[in-house]
Amino acid sequence: MEKKQIGFELTIFESVNELSQSEQELLHAAEQAQENAYAPYSNFQVGAAVLLENGEVVIGSNQENASYPSGLCAERVAVFQAGARYPGVALKMLAVTAKSKDHLVDVPAAPCGNCRQSIMEYEQHQKSPIVIMLKAEKGPIYKCSSMADILPLAFNSSFLGDS
Ligand code: THU
Repeated sequence: MEKKQIGFELTIFESVNELSQSEQELLHAAEQAQENAYAPYSNFQVGAAVLLENGEVVIGSNQENASYPSGLCAERVAVFQAGARYPGVALKMLAVTAKSKDHLVDVPAAPCGNCRQSIMEYEQHQKSPIVIMLKAEKGPIYKCSSMADILPLAFNSSFLGDS
């Protein structure tokens, strides 16, 4: 028998002032995007901003639906839009911010499982990591070096017989 520990490095910042200019700008773009969330059911507004290798920034916000599962998270709105507008251009960094109309969000909201799986597809296809930055209304800022770090043992196309 063998036991393996699978862990990852999470960098925690106390303030945006500790971040690089491009990280700050991307978080700011996500915060602006979150204002356009359509979240009348949860009152939880999420913004996402993706920085592409060509320097473009593509944003998204969560879009809810009266038929709840038909809605989409901010991350996938942004990343799918990036794929549609700039096919084949690598995603370098994803910033995600969140706030609630009902309570103070002071812990960064991490992408849900479906978003992790969707974004992992892009990361594997482009063969380079996507840095993830997470920020709430208040509190620490989290940085992860890749989506693979927060989706260990991921399912991917290799299981389908692709090479
Ligand atoms: N949501 C996101 O947009 N991203 C996340 O990472 C977590 C959750 C949205 C989905 C739904 O509109 C609302 O937040 C509450 O779950």
